[in-house]
Amino acid sequence: MKQTVLLAALAPLAALPGVQAESAESWISAIWDDFKEAVDCGTCQVLLGGLKLVADVGEGFMEDVLTGICDISGAEDRDVCAGVIAIEGPALHYSLKNMKVASHTAKTLCSALIGLCDFPDVRPYHLSFPSPKPATTRPPPSSKPPIKVVHFSDTHVDLSYETGSNYDCSKPICCRVYTEDDAPGTADKPCGPWGNLKCDPPHRLQESMMTAITDLHPAFSIYTGDVVAHDVWLVNQSEVLQDFNATYGAMENHLGLVYAALGNHDAAPLNLFPSHNIPDEYNPQWAYEALAANWMTLTGMESVQKATEYGSYSAIHPNSKLRIISYNSIFYYKYNFFSYEEPMESDPNGQFTWLIEEMQAAEDAGQRVWLISHIPSGNVDHLRDHSHYFDQIVQRYETTIAGLFYGHTHTDEFQIAYSNYSHRNWDTATAMGYVAPSMTPTSGPPSFRVYDIDPETFGVMDFTQYIANISDPSFQRGPEWVPYYSAKKAYGSKLSPPVQDAGVELTPGFWHNVTVAMEKDSSVFEDFWARRTRGYSVPACTGDCVTNEICALRGADAQYSCVQATPGFSFSKRNEASNAPLLSKRFQPECNHAGMASLLAKIAHQASLAKRNGE
Ligand SMILES: *[C@@H]1O[C@H](CO)[C@@H](O)[C@H](O)[C@H]1NC(C)=O
Ligand SMILES: *[C@@H]1O[C@H](CO)[C@@H](O)[C@H](O)[C@H]1NC(C)=O
Ligand SMILES: *[C@@H]1O[C@H](CO)[C@@H](O)[C@H](O)[C@H]1NC(C)=O
Ligand SMILES: *[C@@H]1O[C@H](CO)[C@@H](O)[C@H](O)[C@H]1NC(C)=O
Ligand SMILES: *[C@@H]1O[C@H](CO)[C@@H](O)[C@H](O)[C@H]1NC(C)=O
Repeated sequence: MKQTVLLAALAPLAALPGVQAESAESWISAIWDDFKEAVDCGTCQVLLGGLKLVADVGEGFMEDVLTGICDISGAEDRDVCAGVIAIEGPALHYSLKNMKVASHTAKTLCSALIGLCDFPDVRPYHLSFPSPKPATTRPPPSSKPPIKVVHFSDTHVDLSYETGSNYDCSKPICCRVYTEDDAPGTADKPCGPWGNLKCDPPHRLQESMMTAITDLHPAFSIYTGDVVAHDVWLVNQSEVLQDFNATYGAMENHLGLVYAALGNHDAAPLNLFPSHNIPDEYNPQWAYEALAANWMTLTGMESVQKATEYGSYSAIHPNSKLRIISYNSIFYYKYNFFSYEEPMESDPNGQFTWLIEEMQAAEDAGQRVWLISHIPSGNVDHLRDHSHYFDQIVQRYETTIAGLFYGHTHTDEFQIAYSNYSHRNWDTATAMGYVAPSMTPTSGPPSFRVYDIDPETFGVMDFTQYIANISDPSFQRGPEWVPYYSAKKAYGSKLSPPVQDAGVELTPGFWHNVTVAMEKDSSVFEDFWARRTRGYSVPACTGDCVTNEICALRGADAQYSCVQATPGFSFSKRNEASNAPLLSKRFQPECNHAGMASLLAKIAHQASLAKRNGE
C-alpha cells in the first residue's frame, strides 16, 4: 500500500494553485510507480485514483504528466506518445474527472483496458417490447435462384502511402516517409506499389478490389466501416474528410448501391462517440453529417438522413421485403472513453429503443431484417452489459432477423446467438452474426466476401471468401482476386449428414453444428483457424485455446464468450512464471492501433517489465 500513502501525500498539492509546474515531475514518478504496482483490481483502482487527481489539476497538466510517463516507459516513439495524448487527452480527462473510484464504471475500465479487474457482472436491464414474441419460426428458403451480395470491411486506405518508402519502421503503420531514411530511393526495405503487410493499403488496392467486385455483378453491397488509416497519433478532421471522399467516392464510381455502417476510426479523435448526455463540444457531428451525405448518395434513400443524428439508419431495400438497419456499435466500444460515465448509461441515445421500433415495424410488415454494424456484439471489444441488452432484442425478433453482419476484427469469424446460453445447441441457436475480414492487409491478405442470398427470405444460402494473396511475389505486379473458400463446401461437407444442397440455408443451427464438428475433428477447427487470417501468420492454438475459441463462436452475448479479463499486456503481472507472448492473440489485430487505450495498456506492460527487472 506504499503507493496509496504516496498518493495521499501528494493529494494536497493538487489543491494548491501554482504548484503544478514544480510538481509535474513528482506526479510523473508517482504515477509511474502506480503503474508498476498495479497488479490486481485494488491496485488498478489506486492507479485510476492517481490519474484522477492529476486530471483534477487540469487537462493540460494531465496531458503533460501522461506524456512524461509515456516517455519514461518507452511504450511508443515520443511523437506517437505526444500525438495520441493530444488527440484523445480531452476525452480521457473528461471521463477521469467524473469517475468515482471503485464504482462499476471504474471496475469496467480496469477490466476492459488493463485487464486487472474481473469483468463485473452484467447489470440487469430489461428492455420492453411493444408486443409479445409471436409463435412463428424462421421462414424456409423460397427455392428461387439466389442473388449475390458483397460484404467488405475495414478498408483503412492510407492516402499518404508511398511506393518505395520503408516498410520497416518503428511506428504503428509504415510505408510513409517519416524520416529521410524512409524515403523512396533511400529506404532499404521499400514498399511495393500495391501494399505491404506492415502498412495500411494504397488507394489503388481499393480501386482494384472494387473493380473485382463490379466484375461479379452483385445486386448490392454492404460495408461495415473503418475508412480511415491507422495514423492514430496524427489523424485530424481534414484527413478524415479526405479519406471519406476517397473511399466513398470510389464506391460511388464503382459499386452503385452500398449500405454502409460507422466504424470506430471514422472520426477524429478516433473511437470517441459520446451520447447526448455528454457536452456537445465532444460530439463528432461533422463526421455523422459527412457520412450521412455519402450514404444518401450511395442509396438515394431519404431515410438514411437519420444517420446525421448518431450514425444509424434503417432503409427498405427497393422492391423487396428486406429492411437493412445500420446501427452505431461504437457507443458500446470499450475504447470509447465517453461510455465510462457515472453511472454508465444503459441505452445511450435511446438507440436500443429505436432498434425495437424498427424491428417491430419490420415484424408487423412481414419483412426480414439485416442488422449491419462495425463491432460484433460478442467481441471482447464490446461492453458486456450492452452486448446482453442487444441480445434481448435479437432473441425477441429472432425470426425476423435473417442475419447480422460485422467487421472490426480484421479476421474471418462468426458469432452465434442462442435462446438459452445454458443449453447451446443447434435447436436453441437463434441468430447468426457474420464477421467479414478486412481489406487492409495488416492481419492477412486483403479480402472481400460474396454471399448467395435467397431473394425472398434474404437468408444466407452460402458465401465465398475472395482474397488477393499479398504474400505471393506476383501480387506487386497487380493483385488477382480469387476465391479462397466457400462456406457450404468447406464446412457443410464436414457435417453428418453433410449439407451440400444449394437450396439449404446456412441457418444458426447449421453453424452450431459446424462448431460441434470442430470439437469432434480437430482438422475442422484448424481449417477455420487458418482461414481467420487467410493463412497468414497463423498463431498456435491447441487445448484450452481451442475450447475457448469455440466458446467465443457461441458467444453473441459476450458474457458467455469464455473470454477472461487477462489481456495481453498485463499477463506477466498475474502469472510471473509464465513466459507467454507479449500480446495475447485475441488482442492482436486492432490493439496496436487503438490510440490512447493501447498506449495505456503498453505503458502498463512496460511498467510490469520495469518492476520485474527491479528498475
Ligand atoms: C491534418 O493532418 C494532415 C496530415 O497529417 C496535415 O497535413 C494537416 O496539416 C493537418 N491539418 C490541420 C488543420 O491540423
Ligand atoms: C470529393 O471531393 C471533390 C472535390 O472537392 C468533390 O467534387 C466530390 O464531390 C467529393 N466526393 C465525395 C464522394 O465526397
Ligand atoms: C436452459 O437450459 C438449462 C440447461 O439445459 C435448463 O435447465 C433451463 O430450464 C433452460 N431454460 C429455459 C428457459 O428453457
Ligand atoms: C499465398 O502465397 C504464399 C507464397 O506464394 C503461399 O505460401 C501461400 O500458401 C498463399 N496463400 C494462400 C491462401 O493461397
Ligand atoms: C444439426 O445436427 C443434428 C445432428 O446432430 C441434426 O439432427 C440437425 O438436423 C442439424 N441441424 C442443422 C440445422 O443442420
